[in-house]
Amino acid sequence: AVNAGGMDGKGTVNRKKLSSWVGFSNLPNQVHRRSLRRGFQFVAMVVGESGLGKSTLINTLFETKLYQPKVIPLPGQERPKTVDITSISAEIEEGGVRLKLTVVDTPGFGDFVNNEDSWRPIVDNIESRFDHYLEQENRVNRSKLSDNRVHACIYFIQPTGHALKPIDIEFMRRLHTKVNLIPVIAKADTLTEEEVLLFKQRILSDIQHHGIQIFHPPAYDNEDEETVMENEEIISKVPFAVVGSDALVTGADGRKVRGRAYPWGIIEVDNETHCDFVKLRQMLVRTHMEELREHTNDVLYENYRTDKLKSMGVSQDESVFKETNPAVKQAEERAMYDAKLAKIEAEMKMVFQQKVQEKEQKLRQSEEELYARHREMKEALEKQRLELEDKKRRVESGRPLTPEKGSKKRFGLGK
Ligand code: GTP
Repeated sequence: AVNAGGMDGKGTVNRKKLSSWVGFSNLPNQVHRRSLRRGFQFVAMVVGESGLGKSTLINTLFETKLYQPKVIPLPGQERPKTVDITSISAEIEEGGVRLKLTVVDTPGFGDFVNNEDSWRPIVDNIESRFDHYLEQENRVNRSKLSDNRVHACIYFIQPTGHALKPIDIEFMRRLHTKVNLIPVIAKADTLTEEEVLLFKQRILSDIQHHGIQIFHPPAYDNEDEETVMENEEIISKVPFAVVGSDALVTGADGRKVRGRAYPWGIIEVDNETHCDFVKLRQMLVRTHMEELREHTNDVLYENYRTDKLKSMGVSQDESVFKETNPAVKQAEERAMYDAKLAKIEAEMKMVFQQKVQEKEQKLRQSEEELYARHREMKEALEKQRLELEDKKRRVESGRPLTPEKGSKKRFGLGK
């Protein structure tokens, strides 16, 4: 395809047939190989009151014991006083693809009598990760950017079956512009099918009423029918009613399945008719992980970055460009360095010239002295010559010599 419209990219695109194989069809493979070499980074945050099954769900999602069972404080023992944020990282590999998974846990959220500012440490954590990324971007060497921004925040809603609680709404309102929010109904096995459906409707209408943006798989024009249907199915399950379990139980047919065993039967985690775990995993891990990372970078982080620079008094003009564009920054640093060099060079030249002038002055002085001595000597010799001529004439004319005082010694004629 050739862009006939020049640099603005708005020109008509003519499709051209290639006469032979050029090779760029190998680009996806190149990208694939580079990605495999670098590995991927994904940061998921889990938020919700303690005991809602956050750790269990993460273990279930990534089929790994990322979290060990927690020691629950006994009555009288100290409980965490704040929302103490911790993060656990693990490198997992599947089919040759490496994924550095980080889970940010926020224990203690909503556990206090006064939960007014529970969201604040979480917002601070998300923002400090943005700041860290911004800092890296502004460095001269940007080849090793590590992306520790939160790409998805799974928000656990207590399975009350009523509606969202004020703390849920407050949290989501504070966070929806900074992170991809994925609300889930925790421990959905404690609600009946009908209760789950009604609860979902209520939650969605609360979310809409408060103008909260939650993550939706985006729809693209050129997507195939299957993908469109897949996305619609995922969207129809939001907020996902999940059940977590990292234990294997024996199903009715004798199969070993991940699930929870009850006296009346078994809830299978991986059974789509039992809960939405499969759809959540599909979206989060199998189909939309890259979308989540992209949306974090292109929209959430970009907005944060613009706001941050604006609040620092830098308007979205050339100075922002300069501030954030490493190439421009580098050119500026280079110019400053060149100017410094030129200044040093000029100073050195001046000192050199001064020294040369001094030397020349000295040379001129000694030349004048030499010249004066030369003249003196010449005059003395001339005088001697005249005296000798005078003597010669006297000798020749027979007149007696009347040498001046000391002349004998002087001319060596005394003997
Ligand atoms: P904190 O880390 O203290 O905030 O707790 P948490 O949210 O990580 O909960 P955790 O995963 O430790 O689970 C708490 C308890 O709930 C454990 O006994 C789990 O077995 C149980 N649990 C986890 N998931 C589910 C679920 O989907 N349904 C039911 N019924 N119980 C669950």
